Amino acid sequence: MKKVLAIESSCDETACAIIDEELNILSSVVTSQIDVHARFGGVIPEIASRMHVEQISIIVEEALKQANLTVDDVDAIAYTIGPGLIGSLHIGGIAAKTLSFFYDKPLIGVHHLKGHIFINDLIKPLEYPAMALVVSGGHSELVYMENDDSFKIIGTTLDDAVGESYDKVARVIGLEYPGGPKIDKLSKEGKKNYELPTPRVDGYNFSFSGLKNAALQLVNKMNMKNEEVNKADLSYAFQETALNLLVNKTLKALEEYKDVKTVVVAGGVAANSRLRELMQEKIKGPDVILPPLKYCTDNATMIGVAAMHYLKHNKFVTLDAESKPNMSIED
Ligand code: KG4
Ligand code: ZN
Repeated sequence: MKKVLAIESSCDETACAIIDEELNILSSVVTSQIDVHARFGGVIPEIASRMHVEQISIIVEEALKQANLTVDDVDAIAYTIGPGLIGSLHIGGIAAKTLSFFYDKPLIGVHHLKGHIFINDLIKPLEYPAMALVVSGGHSELVYMENDDSFKIIGTTLDDAVGESYDKVARVIGLEYPGGPKIDKLSKEGKKNYELPTPRVDGYNFSFSGLKNAALQLVNKMNMKNEEVNKADLSYAFQETALNLLVNKTLKALEEYKDVKTVVVAGGVAANSRLRELMQEKIKGPDVILPPLKYCTDNATMIGVAAMHYLKHNKFVTLDAESKPNMSIED
């Protein structure tokens, strides 16, 4: 059975996983730099690259050890080719290319967001056409997939990504990076107390900067008046507005794309408990697949699972492939 060794290093997680074509996870090792970046309130690209350099060999060795395999035993080397932080992408790319060259293994350059989408295969192989709601720290997109090799962006954010807005709102109320999971938790204790404007955007596009700024201004005004912000209520107001926008746009898209059989949620924000609830509650008809919580945020298992689709379509890259920090999912 074919096996892939996959590397992920697009942002602040260094990860390596080995999976086989039946999607058995033979090992999956992730080391996060979150504790270091939390001190600065967000990811510092230069620090991220340096930490990837320190970690990458250790993580690859650990993944091989846990799977009880050597590089000779795997059939291909996969890595995240983009999008992401250029320095971070380079480190994973160099590691993957070195292994590919030295052990003479084919090389697969995986799009990071395809990794987030295809990790849903672990729950159930996706049925096509599929619609993916991609919600991460860097992206908010609605992607229509006619098959596993066709990606059409039908809606995207015009400004901030949803995860990025979560992190910024969290920061202003004193929650540590990454703020998404903390707002998710706090919202459960919150009530409808503050009004925030629902962003109005045409078509299937999203916008989050107006909502984020309204939340920031509300906090600033209250601070100036020496009034205490109720963090749980603000989290609730922000989260309900942001998530209902995402879910309503998905519903709107499904009215046009009536042939969709599966709706999947993908990316770090897919870990959000309220988003998971809303998607299941509101979407009737197509199957709704939510990624396993453990694999919502960045990991290499998702790169390995996506690589199986690349392998099926004989999509390989050569050793001179360049990392693409702004790569579109349509590329
Ligand atoms: O996919 P990911 O790990 O990295 C990128 O590819 O961007 O996503 C990270 C983002 C962060 O913005 C983080 O705050 C957000 O996902 N996030 C969440 C939750 N868990 C992670 N946002 C809302 N609720 C959560 N439970
Ligand atoms: Zn990601």
